[in-house]
Amino acid sequence: MRHPAYVFDAYGTLFDVHAAVRRHAGAIGPDGQLLSEIWRAKQLEYSWVRTLMGSYLDFWQLTEQALDFAFRKVPSADPALRQELLDAYWQLDCYPEVPAVLKALKAEGARIAILSNGSPAMLEAAVRSAALDQVLDDVFSVDEVRRFKTDPAVYDMVSTGWRLYPDAISFQSSNRWDVAGATRFGFRTVWINRTGQPDEYQDLKPGLILPSLEGLLSDNRP
Ligand code: LAC
Repeated sequence: MRHPAYVFDAYGTLFDVHAAVRRHAGAIGPDGQLLSEIWRAKQLEYSWVRTLMGSYLDFWQLTEQALDFAFRKVPSADPALRQELLDAYWQLDCYPEVPAVLKALKAEGARIAILSNGSPAMLEAAVRSAALDQVLDDVFSVDEVRRFKTDPAVYDMVSTGWRLYPDAISFQSSNRWDVAGATRFGFRTVWINRTGQPDEYQDLKPGLILPSLEGLLSDNRP
């Protein structure tokens, strides 16, 4: 089935969030992966806690605070690398199949957008550095509603903005919790399980599970 609109999560789905640390792996030393995992986990935890508290700070501020915490937890990593790691976040690699898949969906006439926790400035930089600006019709940032995913107001920005019923929109995310939120909202959902994670949120199942975005182009798409 074809969908009139495809919406993609950004970090982890289009852009590789661990690319920042990998790019400086030599300088960081043996605990680079641990540093990267703590950085990402805290960045997300802060987004959920701040949404529950009603105390919004933008995703860039959370990204900085999360990295500072990660450095304190991983003393073998030199905090002098802080600025370089943060800078790398503005030019993350996109996954290799991303440009071709987005272009092919667009060529079929679908609308294409990003819906992300990222601040508008972060997203603009990442999109430009991955040369995706030509293919995207819109970039929706949670900054407009000052709440993070999985608040329904976030997903509603797209259906209201595009004047489409939620079930006309196919939402793709590598983050299983994000897929749960989008499914609950009423989007059709595809979990891009890039790293073979076990399933969770059993009552909020994705319509389809794919190992990469490439499967969106096959005939058996949802
Ligand atoms: C995003 C986070 C969830 O891009 O990765 O919204």
